[in-house]
Amino acid sequence: MAMTLLVFILQTSGEVTMLDPALKGSMNVLKACAKAASVKRVVMTSSSSAIRYDYNRQATDPPLNESVWSNPEYCREYKLWYPLAKTLAEREAFAFAASVGLDLVAVHPSFVVGPFITPVPQSSIKILLSLLKGSEYPNSRLGFVHIDDVVTAHLLAMEVPEANGRYICSSDVLHFSDIVDILRLKCPKLTVASRCSDRKGDNFHHKMDSTKLKNLGLAQLKSVDQMFDDVLKCFHEKGLIGDYQ
Ligand SMILES: *[C@@H]1O[C@H](CO)[C@@H](O)[C@H](O)[C@H]1NC(C)=O
Repeated sequence: MAMTLLVFILQTSGEVTMLDPALKGSMNVLKACAKAASVKRVVMTSSSSAIRYDYNRQATDPPLNESVWSNPEYCREYKLWYPLAKTLAEREAFAFAASVGLDLVAVHPSFVVGPFITPVPQSSIKILLSLLKGSEYPNSRLGFVHIDDVVTAHLLAMEVPEANGRYICSSDVLHFSDIVDILRLKCPKLTVASRCSDRKGDNFHHKMDSTKLKNLGLAQLKSVDQMFDDVLKCFHEKGLIGDYQ
């Protein structure tokens, strides 16, 4: 019998109200999968935000890998509700999967950049567009990843029999101040955000280790340069920005 697989994406935004939908939503899907005999593996889209948040992260620390989990206390202290929701939902998902013998694999993309198919941008792409309208940029340092690599990571997680556990999917880690510098060079005709937000707790140095995903078959993650070239072209084609070069 062919393997039947299911991918689901937790779309969460907002404040503390996101905890309930993230937890209940993922558990509802997992319970349904556990009941359906045809589901052989579940691939869950988690996030690098379920990995990177904790006290005392240092630039000199070894790269963060799949053994690391975000600290819920840190997330609560800095009101990082999205990371908190992702961390708790993933923990609960793996605990449930283990208890019923469900094969669960999780993919952890960082900040996703690249062409999009929706008519209006959502989530991370919406933040990028706001950077090109001159608003302030987030005081955040995090990994960036091309959407093509996120798609490939999910396909590998579904299709490679040995895939197991968690998979970080992230290219370089940069601060948004680096991103606005890149955008200024690529978009001389636009007003790029120039003021940093005063948010605390999201700008610590860290590195992300995508070796496990590379070993699964994604040998070369696309560069930050390429992901921004691709998203800018897409913004322009959809009429969301004017001539920018
Ligand atoms: C993952 O990170 C932990 C903590 O830094 C380290 O002890 C471990 O060796 C790493 N594992 C791999 C496979 O690199």
